[in-house]
Amino acid sequence: MEKGLRENRKTEEIRAQFRETHLQVSDFIYPLFIEEGNNIKKEIASMPGIFRYSLDQINDELNEVVALGIKSVILFGIPLHKDAEGSESWNENGIIQQAIHYIKKNYPTLQVIADVCFCEYTNHGHCGVLCNHDVDNELTLKNLRKQVLAQAKAGVDMVAPSGMMDFAVLEIRDELNKNGFQHIPIMGYSVKYASAYYGPFRDAADSTPSFGDRRTYQMDSANRNEAIKEAQADVDEGSAILMVKPALSYLDIIRDLKNNFDLPIAAYNVSGEYAMIKAAGKNGWIDEQRVMMETLLSIKRAGADIIITYFAKEAAKILKASPTPPKEGLC
Ligand code: PBG
Ligand code: ZN
Repeated sequence: MEKGLRENRKTEEIRAQFRETHLQVSDFIYPLFIEEGNNIKKEIASMPGIFRYSLDQINDELNEVVALGIKSVILFGIPLHKDAEGSESWNENGIIQQAIHYIKKNYPTLQVIADVCFCEYTNHGHCGVLCNHDVDNELTLKNLRKQVLAQAKAGVDMVAPSGMMDFAVLEIRDELNKNGFQHIPIMGYSVKYASAYYGPFRDAADSTPSFGDRRTYQMDSANRNEAIKEAQADVDEGSAILMVKPALSYLDIIRDLKNNFDLPIAAYNVSGEYAMIKAAGKNGWIDEQRVMMETLLSIKRAGADIIITYFAKEAAKILKASPTPPKEGLC
């Protein structure tokens, strides 16, 4: 008999030796929603286990994050006041600037990444300045400079522009360099699709567009060649990390980027992907923990070096305990 491949699967020890992909806690970035105000800890209905916090309620969450060995968080702000341009996003006392300052002061070892966009700050929910019912690229770039400078002054470790404006990375890199922030890297949301999987996030961040959709700036789900062009543009403009978003319906794109570029690749395991697993798990239709770990593993296997995920804490707990897989029945 020829030797088959089942030999490599005989015991957990052998399987471990043949395992090609390994998840680590340091792969994860954990998203946090920070709401302006006091005494707020509100669970997001479609994202069980994920909360909006005011800064005075955030310590327990951050203590847990640090204790679990999670190295990095990405912040989304929900301001009290919204306006047409989203000017709270560059207010030096705005909610995200306060949050950056607070977290860096009290949890100095935690890497703080700021999402850079306007949809949570504008009264119309679009990702920039409107002109003739569409987001104006030039005007939005001007405001992006202001937002990123405010975040840099507050002490942010990394910035992540998510609005899919052309030349955003170029302008942000220039603004940071001009002001002595050469050391702050940019993680571009290089390849971000106009996706229905963002639904729960828009409830979480109060950022649903009041009219229309984001198809004039986010990518068409059908496009693969264009992903390479978007990623190349971010490389040329000075992005330190490339991102694909969402993750699960775009695993091919993650692999394309991994094969074509030598920068770290991040993938955003988005709110809808989280909500689906949670919902099926709650109903007892799937083994939630195993599906979660298989999902995260698939994103890494596809080529992601970094995974932004609402599952970060739960997955970290499992990786920490590293339980041996349950024994299957005989024959
Ligand atoms: C906004 C932004 C979105 C997400 C991150 N930043 C949503 C959107 O474009 O509407 C989605 C994250 C998620 O769904 O988990 N620029
Ligand atoms: Zn946005």
